[in-house]
Amino acid sequence: MIRVDKDFALNMFSIDGRTALVTGATGALGGAVAKAYCYQGANVVMTARNEKKLKELEAEFKAEGLSCAIIAGDPAVEEDMKKAVGCAVEKFGELNILAVCHGFNSPKGILEQTPQEWQKILDADLKSVYIACRAAAEQMVAQGKGGKIVVTSSARSKMGMKGYTGYCASKGGCDLMIQSMASDLAPYGINVNTINPTVFRSDLTEWMFDPQSEVYKNFLKRLPIGRLGEVQDFIGLATFLASPASDFLTGGNYDATGGYWAN
Ligand SMILES: NC(=O)c1ccc[n+]([C@@H]2O[C@H](COP(=O)([O-])OP(=O)(O)OC[C@H]3O[C@@H](n4cnc5c(N)ncnc54)[C@H](OP(=O)(O)O)[C@@H]3O)[C@@H](O)[C@H]2O)c1
Repeated sequence: MIRVDKDFALNMFSIDGRTALVTGATGALGGAVAKAYCYQGANVVMTARNEKKLKELEAEFKAEGLSCAIIAGDPAVEEDMKKAVGCAVEKFGELNILAVCHGFNSPKGILEQTPQEWQKILDADLKSVYIACRAAAEQMVAQGKGGKIVVTSSARSKMGMKGYTGYCASKGGCDLMIQSMASDLAPYGINVNTINPTVFRSDLTEWMFDPQSEVYKNFLKRLPIGRLGEVQDFIGLATFLASPASDFLTGGNYDATGGYWAN
């Protein structure tokens, strides 16, 4: 007798009816995750600092009949993240998924960068992850039904780069931090994992997609899959790690690189 539950096999990727909070929802990856979750039947609360962009997103989503809400806030500010979690509970009754998709970088060599500039990157890419995850975890623990936390890290968490002392330290710290967090939260049925992308198309990276650019040519030498990432390539992992299919996975860093580490 092969013991595979048929209902589970058929529905394991479903997040239908779940409520998700997405940070960095005004960005390329956050916006894509938010919309993909909505299309899959989730209620989605979108947060970011830019309220005008959030309102535009809300109008776009609502025009498609999607179930969403918005709340402006800075993920590095505890009060803002508590309000964002409160918004999910107030509008949709509970919070089941946190997708952390915000981030910032301002590359500079150590001799040119001030400690304040470095700290700004650490706050945006590491402290903010701790604050957002903590606020969501408190709510998930109170609900007593477990939950899913999916954090966007970077392939740069595993490897340094010129001018990236702040970003690499943040993303490397993020990968280790979520391992500890996963251990803290496992007793409550909360899974915590990261997605670690290389270059995905966004307003900031669009220039890297020019086939004539040296950056593009150099990247492709390391990418067996033969192209850079599009948001569609991200939402599969973001859904998998938010769904029952990943119930046994926690504290992991999941590669979204087109095979960067294989070559
Ligand atoms: N795209 C890539 O190639 C790539 C590769 C590896 C890793 N990643 C990671 O993926 C995540 C999303 O990247 P993306 O490409 O979607 O970026 P994006 O399009 O530039 O969007 C960035 C998002 O983060 C928010 N943000 C910007 N500065 C912030 C700050 N100082 N503090 C808090 N939030 C801030 C922005 O919204 P507001 O300004 O409204 O707050 C926006 O929603 C980031 O963690 C990034 O490091 C991206």
